[in-house]
Amino acid sequence: MRIDILTVLPALLESPFNMSIIKRAQDNNVAKIVVHDIREYSTNKHKRVDDYMFGGGAGMVIQVEPVHRCIQKLQAERTYDEIIYMTPDAPTFTQKDANQLSLFKNIIIICGHYKGIDSRIREQIVTREFSIGDYVITGGELAAAVVTDAIVRLIPGAMSDISSALSDSFQDNLLAPPVYTRPEEYNGWTVPKILLSGNTKEIEKWQLEQSIERTKQIRPDLLQ
Ligand code: ADE
Repeated sequence: MRIDILTVLPALLESPFNMSIIKRAQDNNVAKIVVHDIREYSTNKHKRVDDYMFGGGAGMVIQVEPVHRCIQKLQAERTYDEIIYMTPDAPTFTQKDANQLSLFKNIIIICGHYKGIDSRIREQIVTREFSIGDYVITGGELAAAVVTDAIVRLIPGAMSDISSALSDSFQDNLLAPPVYTRPEEYNGWTVPKILLSGNTKEIEKWQLEQSIERTKQIRPDLLQ
């Protein structure tokens, strides 16, 4: 799978993809993440890509032309399954979206910055929009990193044990059960006995009960 990310701040995306599972996925050639600097597609001699809002108001807007030029160049090279825009005024990104997007071959993710991008890109080009939650962060870069990570870790070959991804929180609308590792006792704090019993069936039953209980307590909305 290939993910092309368009941003005015490429430096913000340098480190998140160079570690852990996301790095392994790229090393194993199951994912390719390419970051594009929108400024390189500016025709302005100062490489400017933003301008004031029509109608007035505080804050700058990323111009339509450099974003469109970058997308046109990419689309001339390959076909894209989705062109995604990260913005707080969009449906919240969920595990279901990550599962679905992980099956695609090529996607583009556009990061907003300042007041966002010229809405004509959203109206004419973008096929999906996602928010990562009901709060505003400085730009879409960290949001794009979150979405990219959630997608790439699901691609076969990214994780050494894919069954680990299937037991994540949200995969079945339940939060994950608590987990423990050695030592069995630390500082007088013990591990639930059932986990040491070796009885796989009983352990799975306990884990499911814990998941349901935790979901009821912490995220009852998921059970509806
Ligand atoms: N850009 C700024 N805030 C955001 C959010 N919550 N989700 C996605 N993109 C954003």
